[in-house]
Amino acid sequence: MKDIFEKIKDNRGPLGQHAKDAHGYFTFPKLEGDISNKMIFRGKERLVWSLNNYLGLANHPEVRKADADASKEFGLGLPMGARMMSGNSDQHEQLERELSDFMQKEDTILLNFGYQGMVSAIDSLVDRHDVVVYDSEAHACIIDGLRVHIGKHFVYPHNDMASLEKQLQRAENLVKDTNGGILVITEGVFGMSGDQGKLAEVVALKSKYQFRLFVDDAHGFGTMGKTGAGTAEAQGVQDGVDIYFGTFAKSMALIGGFISGNNNVIEYLRYNMRSQIFAKALPMPLVVGALKRLELLRSKPELRENLWKIVNALQKGLVDAGFSIGNTESPVTPVYLNGTIPEATHLIKDLRETYDIFCSMVVYPVVPKGIIMLRLIPTAVHTLEDVSYTISCFKKIKENLSAGKYAEEKIAVTAVS
Ligand SMILES: Cc1ncc(COP(=O)(O)O)c(C=O)c1O
Repeated sequence: MKDIFEKIKDNRGPLGQHAKDAHGYFTFPKLEGDISNKMIFRGKERLVWSLNNYLGLANHPEVRKADADASKEFGLGLPMGARMMSGNSDQHEQLERELSDFMQKEDTILLNFGYQGMVSAIDSLVDRHDVVVYDSEAHACIIDGLRVHIGKHFVYPHNDMASLEKQLQRAENLVKDTNGGILVITEGVFGMSGDQGKLAEVVALKSKYQFRLFVDDAHGFGTMGKTGAGTAEAQGVQDGVDIYFGTFAKSMALIGGFISGNNNVIEYLRYNMRSQIFAKALPMPLVVGALKRLELLRSKPELRENLWKIVNALQKGLVDAGFSIGNTESPVTPVYLNGTIPEATHLIKDLRETYDIFCSMVVYPVVPKGIIMLRLIPTAVHTLEDVSYTISCFKKIKENLSAGKYAEEKIAVTAVS
């Protein structure tokens, strides 16, 4: 028999095993100062490409004022309790109505956090008779939702529509016996690679198979589509998405999230989602702050236009400079290089310390062995100068990488807590 604490002393987990060397620099870095294109990292100003502040709302003067006024008026305590018991308010209901209107759905339920909301929505929607069919690159919150689902779940390789059909056939055979239903879950924008879920093709399959479609559009809400209503709007299939999930944590630069759908589904979720029934409601300043952000998101298309001006310049500039950015069809901009994990760490350190550029790095097992993915998130507050400076620095680090410079260098980053 093992003592739990002794066991975790020896096995720190896939990320935790690197904590000693990485903490404070590669993991848990501290970005300080106003949220913008440039922030302070370790006492020095850096150009930051790591924040999902797509529309630049985090530090918008109207947003900052609304947040401050709401905190002053309500404090952070109100409302007390879960929505169902004692934590409902006019403002919560107003935000739900406005989101429904924007998303062109009958109703909406607010979520305290997107992640736990997604887990809980899956948990409450399907039972042991039902089958969930999902994309292999689904976000951790979908995977964790499936971990609590006691029925079957079938995965299809990322965006592979022929495999999705096969899994739908398999699911149909199964639910004939169980008398259950089928829920397909995919994403609007896949947050690592930036490519879109093939929503139009999935919706088209509804003419052949009977299923409901649940879309996690965390990165698409506010950034994609003519009005910013997301990836389904961009693909012209809003009506075909039965349940739409968005988070406030990205384009809205806040905390919380929502699920929109028809009255039947949302009222069911309202009375069955354990994460909302058994947890305190979103604090009032977050709700009032979300109302202000939604108003700006809807009334100021120039925010989205600025975002896309930077996205297009960055992605075109990188491609013209010979970089591989994969199949992105969204603001998420991956840059793929070849190298080892030690090379990746030296390269990131060089980017930060020599060129004052802060971006995220993704390595094996998220991407295949030998691939280094630098992930850039352009925002409306970046400038075209930021773009050209970054591309010129990326050319230099790519030359260094090809010349083997990062293989030789000894990394000297002191971990700080
Ligand atoms: C695809 C996707 N779904 C869900 C979430 C969770 O959202 P939240 O940060 O609101 O918990 C995220 C955020 O990282 C995400 O990228």
